Amino acid sequence: MKINKTLTSLLSLVAIASLAYASGTVSEESLGLRKTNLYSENGTSPEQAKFDAAAPGAAKTLQRAYDNAPPLIPHSVEGLLPITAKNNACLGCHMPAAAKGVGATPIPPSHFVDFRPATKVDKKGDIIKDGKVIKNTSDVKVVEHKQKTLYQGRYNCSQCHVPQANIKPLVKNNFKPDYQSASAKKKSNLLDVLNAGVNIK
Ligand code: HEC
Ligand code: HEC
Repeated sequence: MKINKTLTSLLSLVAIASLAYASGTVSEESLGLRKTNLYSENGTSPEQAKFDAAAPGAAKTLQRAYDNAPPLIPHSVEGLLPITAKNNACLGCHMPAAAKGVGATPIPPSHFVDFRPATKVDKKGDIIKDGKVIKNTSDVKVVEHKQKTLYQGRYNCSQCHVPQANIKPLVKNNFKPDYQSASAKKKSNLLDVLNAGVNIK
């Protein structure tokens, strides 16, 4: 009986507290990331990002976000954009032959490989991928088609590698990566581990 009474009074306390909470107004402005009037666009433009990194050669490389993540561009890209299929200023310093001389990380072997399977349909209607008849498209080991030149599917470097702006993110990123080795924080080895865990002949 005593326990029941205590429980009832506890429950009513909780009920009163939540009622009080519910009736306290929560402003619309406080709900979103934008802390301004939601019914007007005046003064709502976000803080202007400052891309003020040092010039190539004067910047410091950044730790990879995770194993084999595309490294972030630590230096300024002023005057280097736009990148087009025929005109790419990044190559002047990052092609392996040039990279050492200017202290840049060479473009890795993975960028000289076409990973797309050579696919065709034969007369019987079977799908042939890299010379094999494929029944289930998920049962395919990645086949590397190595080439001497940069694979043009990668020409647009900034599709994956991005320059850094000096700005405070609205939402903090709490992601903490695990690396397979200490060197993976600074170097990629994608071609060596590409088929790791895949056990198909
Ligand atoms: C004038 C030579 C030069 C040019 C042009 C250049 N880079 Fe760099 N890049 C460097 C150097 C040198 C570094 C090493 C950091 C430093 O010293 O600034 C570097 C570092 C990088 C890194 C980080 C590599 C790592 O190991 O973490 C990336 C990614 C990168 N550059 C991408 C690009 C892209 C994309 C372009 C074209 C928009 C470009 N770079 C143009 C010289 C250059
Ligand atoms: C489709 C996405 C993509 C594109 C496009 C791309 N990269 Fe990468 N890049 C990656 C990834 C992912 C890695 C890390 C894994 C690896 O080595 O492939 C990487 C790694 C690198 C590295 C570090 C190599 C090392 O030894 O650690 C450099 C330098 C680099 N890329 C330069 C470039 C340049 C220059 C271009 C443009 C010609 C380019 N990348 C285009 C995804 C891309």
